Amino acid sequence: MPTRARHLARRGAALPQPRARRRAVVLLLAAALVPATALPATAVARTVSAEPAVAQTVTAAGPEHRAVALGTPRRPVAIPDPSRAGSLVAPPPRAPEPAVTAAGTLVVVNKQRPLEPLDYAPHHLGAVAGTDVELREDAAAAADRLLADAERAGVPMLPRSGFRSYETQVATYAHWEDVLGSAEADVQSARPGYSEHQTGLALDVLPADGTCQAFGCFGDTPQAAWLAEHAPDYGFVVRYQDGQEDVTGYTAEPWHLRYVGAATAADVAASGARSLEEYFGLPAAPTY
Ligand code: DAL
Ligand code: ZN
Repeated sequence: MPTRARHLARRGAALPQPRARRRAVVLLLAAALVPATALPATAVARTVSAEPAVAQTVTAAGPEHRAVALGTPRRPVAIPDPSRAGSLVAPPPRAPEPAVTAAGTLVVVNKQRPLEPLDYAPHHLGAVAGTDVELREDAAAAADRLLADAERAGVPMLPRSGFRSYETQVATYAHWEDVLGSAEADVQSARPGYSEHQTGLALDVLPADGTCQAFGCFGDTPQAAWLAEHAPDYGFVVRYQDGQEDVTGYTAEPWHLRYVGAATAADVAASGARSLEEYFGLPAAPTY
């Protein structure tokens, strides 16, 4: 069963490349770094229910692991359009996000950059239109546009997973650990507190036309090709690309989209970077 994702070929979203511009962006972001506070030495999680329901105890990173922060969003978080199907009709008064690093759309979460706190959850979630898959409101609005245009382009897709709580990720990781063993699970599933899904900025999709109903075949679909080309137009990057395993720590996931906002997604594409680590000049994070 093992290497489920290993044979998932993917093409990246690599494009031409103005390095100077990229460097300037990195410097700007570095100047805006949010100081990370110390993480608890360990974090022990209890399983709740979730996708695959399996109980498991997971011990998270040690004290040397620091949270991730790359500045603030380039623009304010979008206020949802009340007329948009699937959005919150009457959004509650906007409270400030907690002082955690995932508050911005440019947060980078990887095996060396856990969320802080480990059980972080975003405040303002909205459903992707017509589904119960939730993302941060700005990301949900962008996903709605992407999915509508994909359907018009003849590559219909459905969201399969968006925001996942810490508890859900405990169960998700535990499931894969049971099925695949720890080593293989670690290249396919993030440990709780280390998943982009916990930020509300990551979205997994599958074809909606019945051509492929599991992630294992997604890479060979027209949908995957369309995303590789067009996801940046909607503010998403294909986060885990083929050939980047030693940088991201994960086998390719051409179905896993990460919202960074349209300006940044365009800049990532233009830079030719094939991972957010590369784009932001961050160290590779192949392991915990
Ligand atoms: N599958 C991705 C790496 C996650 O679990 O967040
Ligand atoms: Zn995913």
